[in-house]
Amino acid sequence: MANPHTLLLFALLLFLVACPSHQQQKQQKMNTIDLTALAAIKDSLTGIPGSNFFSTWDFASQDPCSTFSGITCSLNRVTSLTLGTGLSDSPGLAGSLSPSLSNLTELTQLVLYPGLVTGPIPPQLGGLRSLRVISLTNNRLTGPIPSSLSSLPNLHTLDLSYNQLTGSIPPGLFTGLSELKVVIMAWNSLSGELPRRMSTPLLHLDLKSNRLGGILPLEMPSSLHYLSVSRNNMWGPLNGLGSLSELVYLDLSMNQFNGPIPSSVFRPSLASLLLQRNNLSGGVPSRLVDPSSSYGEGSIVDLSHNLLSGELSPVLAGVESLFLNNNYWVGRVPMEYVDSFYRGRTKTLYLQHNYISEFPLEPGLALPDTASLCLSYNCMVPPVRLTACPASAGVQLPRPEAQCVAFNHMH
Ligand SMILES: *[C@@H]1O[C@H](CO)[C@@H](O)[C@H](O)[C@H]1NC(C)=O
Ligand SMILES: *[C@@H]1O[C@H](CO)[C@@H](O)[C@H](O)[C@H]1NC(C)=O
Repeated sequence: MANPHTLLLFALLLFLVACPSHQQQKQQKMNTIDLTALAAIKDSLTGIPGSNFFSTWDFASQDPCSTFSGITCSLNRVTSLTLGTGLSDSPGLAGSLSPSLSNLTELTQLVLYPGLVTGPIPPQLGGLRSLRVISLTNNRLTGPIPSSLSSLPNLHTLDLSYNQLTGSIPPGLFTGLSELKVVIMAWNSLSGELPRRMSTPLLHLDLKSNRLGGILPLEMPSSLHYLSVSRNNMWGPLNGLGSLSELVYLDLSMNQFNGPIPSSVFRPSLASLLLQRNNLSGGVPSRLVDPSSSYGEGSIVDLSHNLLSGELSPVLAGVESLFLNNNYWVGRVPMEYVDSFYRGRTKTLYLQHNYISEFPLEPGLALPDTASLCLSYNCMVPPVRLTACPASAGVQLPRPEAQCVAFNHMH
């Protein structure tokens, strides 16, 4: 019925309605609830003198989505909020985090750059179901980590490091969040214990320097690449590490872990193995699980300041920085260590404060200039010209004979 002329007119009208002009797009307004929330967020924060972060936040602006710094929008809603500039010449923000953050319901990313922001992490953040990244590091946040964060189904990265957070870590973070890959809570004052079983498929877990007690979880995610609980008050055996075959970095130093070191952690793909200053006992395995692999450049193994004993096996030959000092090692240092040292693969070898009786030198061969070897306070006269000891090793070169005799008598 319709004649071709009206059809054409209709199509033209449809086109005009569906495609807003350039002019209209520029004047799209930010959602009012988001704009009100941003005003409250700004009110609770101030720039430290020298920071002009908020200078672009002009609430009379026609288009806050494109003029406010630190904001990304999608369809007039705020999807990403970065507070502070992160530039080294700009101080951060002070004040506190407003609960109004919870009205930015489309937010996927919340970042607060280093500054002096105090007060709690608003528990209302747990209502932001789209959040993937929360990074609030290097401020002065206090109080607990809200347990509501463990109901964020899309959370991928949670970095709360370098604050003053207290209380225990909500166990739900480690049990129910299928997207959570990175958890960094280092350098706070968190206490309590980790749950016995963790099912969240984490890649990176850094809890360094807190006040955590208790034992290592019996089950940890086998996906872990990086694990640090260094500088806490944890204790007990190192069971549960056996299943962590993807680890490349493991730091359990400065706790009170005891019992033997599982042989599964002696593998070159685990290139940073830091177990120093614990109560670990027993020895090292006689061979690597995979003898065809070898430690490479940048590898570091620190087993110093434990209760380890027995003879050294060749497993750690080739490690670039090897700290075995302050234990109860006895006998002859395997030739493989000496070779790897001469060939420049091992650059640091600390063996001081043990009961070692022989370091087999190759007469006439010069050590590489970069080599650092410390053998003082063992049951032998160290080859003096080789020693390059840290000041903490003391000045006494050999251990007193009577100690060596008494030790050998006891063992
Ligand atoms: C969120 O927005 C609503 C509507 O503007 C307001 O009534 C409420 O107080 C806001 N909530 C917070 C925590 O600011
Ligand atoms: C670790 O060793 C120290 C010193 O030998 C001891 O005082 C402490 O009780 C031990 N801790 C544990 C948990 O075994």
